[in-house]
Amino acid sequence: MLSGPNLNLLGEREPEVYGHHTLEDVQRMVEERAQQLGVEVRFVQSNHEGVLLDELHRARLDCEAVVINPGAFTHTSIALRDAIAAIRIPVVEVHLSNPYAREAFRRRMVLAPVVRGQVLGFGPQSYVLGLEAAVHLARGETQ
Ligand code: DQA
Repeated sequence: MLSGPNLNLLGEREPEVYGHHTLEDVQRMVEERAQQLGVEVRFVQSNHEGVLLDELHRARLDCEAVVINPGAFTHTSIALRDAIAAIRIPVVEVHLSNPYAREAFRRRMVLAPVVRGQVLGFGPQSYVLGLEAAVHLARGETQ
């Protein structure tokens, strides 16, 4: 489960948009659901595009699926798009906010064509729903 730039500041960052939960809180919710589903999750947050690229490459070797909140790289990163297109495991994109309901520049989502699906706008629950989708895909329960 990858979280991109500025998501380490959740809880204090624009709480009117992103709420009051910290990334640690969100990860705790995901961990709880992961235990119910009987899956193991590795959490990585980075403010650096290259680290997220390395983690996607690493995931293809030892993970069955990826859930990613790419932060602002959602709107800019052709490198992340290419990495997702390069790996064979399913990738689910999640966002706390609904980018379509915000500034016009957030409507350009460059990873959208190469991810298996997106979960947008449910706050921390987006991460939990993203995990559920990833588990379904990894288990072959969804096309
Ligand atoms: C975000 C939405 C992005 O537009 C923004 O740059 C973020 C957070 C979200 O989770 O709602 O950093 O990915």
